Amino acid sequence: MERLSKEEDVVATVGDYKIKVFSADKLADVMRINKTCLPENYPSSFFIYLHQNFPKAFLIAEKDGEVVGYIMCRVEYGLSNMGIKLTRKGHVVSIAVMPGHRRKGIATALLRAAEKALKEYGAKEMMLEVRVSNTPAISLYKKLGYKEVKVLKRYYSDGEDAYLMAKELEEDDDEK
Ligand code: ACO
Ligand code: ZN
Repeated sequence: MERLSKEEDVVATVGDYKIKVFSADKLADVMRINKTCLPENYPSSFFIYLHQNFPKAFLIAEKDGEVVGYIMCRVEYGLSNMGIKLTRKGHVVSIAVMPGHRRKGIATALLRAAEKALKEYGAKEMMLEVRVSNTPAISLYKKLGYKEVKVLKRYYSDGEDAYLMAKELEEDDDEK
């Protein structure tokens, strides 16, 4: 049976693109975008696990029903990357936008919406790993206030290092 998208699934818009919460009928689209855009790929069970546990922080970008990007995240409890304390961290597991749709602000909108959702899950700061050679992604994260916290040596299976990047999430009293 077809699942008609509800208006409340839309959390933001960027031009003609809608940022929506992921639903399981979009799994094949998201897995295809992940394979097209990144060497780090996962079994379908991993996508479903993230969706079931952190549904508001698994988002897609869609234009005329075509999925062109996604972000998926989780919340972890552990040592802060910003100070010496235990804290809840929002972890960006994976983000990608299809080549024909880049530099339009889609990743920015996905990341901002995910940060808001992760705050609702109690996250106090954000963290992610990114290849040290991935200039577009590093530029995106820096623009949104992330800082390089440390280098994770040989983090990727091909031996490349990662930057661990992190940022503090602001307490907001002006948002609903
Ligand atoms: N070169 C330099 N800066 C860039 C580039 C680029 N190619 N792309 C984005 N940026 C920076 C710019 O500052 C840009 O602002 P501007 O366009 O006003 O100059 C800013 O990031 C925001 O760009 P968006 O349009 O929001 O980003 P986009 O929708 O194009 O998506 C992304 C960026 C996700 C990195 C995309 O290039 C992509 O899918 N790459 C392949 C997959 C990938 O590397 N994902 C991240 C892996 S790490 C992880 O998942 C935790
Ligand atoms: Zn990670």
